[in-house]
Amino acid sequence: MKRIAILTSGGDAPSMNDAIRAAARTAIENGADVVGVRNGFAGLLREDYIPLAARDVSGIIEHAGTFLGSARCQEFRSDTGVMKAIRSLEDHAISGLIVIGGNGSQAGALALANHGVPVNGVASTIDNDLAGSDMTIGVDSALNVILEAIDRLRVTATSHHRLFILEVMGRDYGYLALAAGLAGGSEVIVTPEHDLEPHRVMELIHEAGRRGKSRAIVVVAEGAKNTATALHQCMINDLACGFEPRLTILGHLQRGGRPSAFDRLLATRLAAKATELLLEGVTGQLIGLLGGNATPTPLADVVGKHKPLPAELLTLLDTMKL
Ligand code: F6P
Repeated sequence: MKRIAILTSGGDAPSMNDAIRAAARTAIENGADVVGVRNGFAGLLREDYIPLAARDVSGIIEHAGTFLGSARCQEFRSDTGVMKAIRSLEDHAISGLIVIGGNGSQAGALALANHGVPVNGVASTIDNDLAGSDMTIGVDSALNVILEAIDRLRVTATSHHRLFILEVMGRDYGYLALAAGLAGGSEVIVTPEHDLEPHRVMELIHEAGRRGKSRAIVVVAEGAKNTATALHQCMINDLACGFEPRLTILGHLQRGGRPSAFDRLLATRLAAKATELLLEGVTGQLIGLLGGNATPTPLADVVGKHKPLPAELLTLLDTMKL
């Protein structure tokens, strides 16, 4: 009988639990034995496995995070760490592995695949920075948290004619800032890809003022060179700003939101596909959403690859700021 292991790694993302559940149940349905690995690749090194039956993954889909635990594991990044993980898998008679996570986690999956381990990845990170998936698991839920924050901030921005600067996550990718800023009707968006110096942000705000706007929301990606904190300081110092600036850093609130319907379905589809392929012997793949379908792409083609921001959203931004 095949024995499949499932792990979650890197930053937790809403609906990782749905992905664990889908991978486990797909494997069980196909006659495989399933174990969960606690705390990502660190759990492989510590041989921290727990059996997973169909009932063990009940009652988890509405909870963000990962009940298996996650970690960023330094030891696994070395060749010695990878070899130790392979021995751990062999000692526990594990014939296939599912890795649910983002770029760093899929780099780990690729390292194992390069040594002949049958492994498939499931694209999961709120950053949406993984090539090989138009949308990754957790992005939609994180966006909904950000939108709620923007909607709330706008209430006070409007009442007090204030300028709010909101920092959002995304590591060094600007997708969350771009998508949330666009959907939330922000006046200015600053991303690592389209960084704006403080004087340019001020110009855009003044232009918005001339178009009749008496409040402003500036969404800044955490990876932008001109950080939200620095922009805030510049505006405090700029008496000609015309608005009272306020700074909000959303931080890890973005990772803990209730998983959205979109994320639950996406996680279920991607993890089920990854497991089906693993059991069929199609391995070394990242399963992501491409053109609306759960689609495999070789891990080697996606890990560490640059993913451009969607051109369509960038074009819309110009129109919507009016
Ligand atoms: O990759 C997900 C993410 O939330 C990034 O957006 C952020 O830069 C990073 O993780 C934060 O990592 P940590 O939770 O380790 O502070």
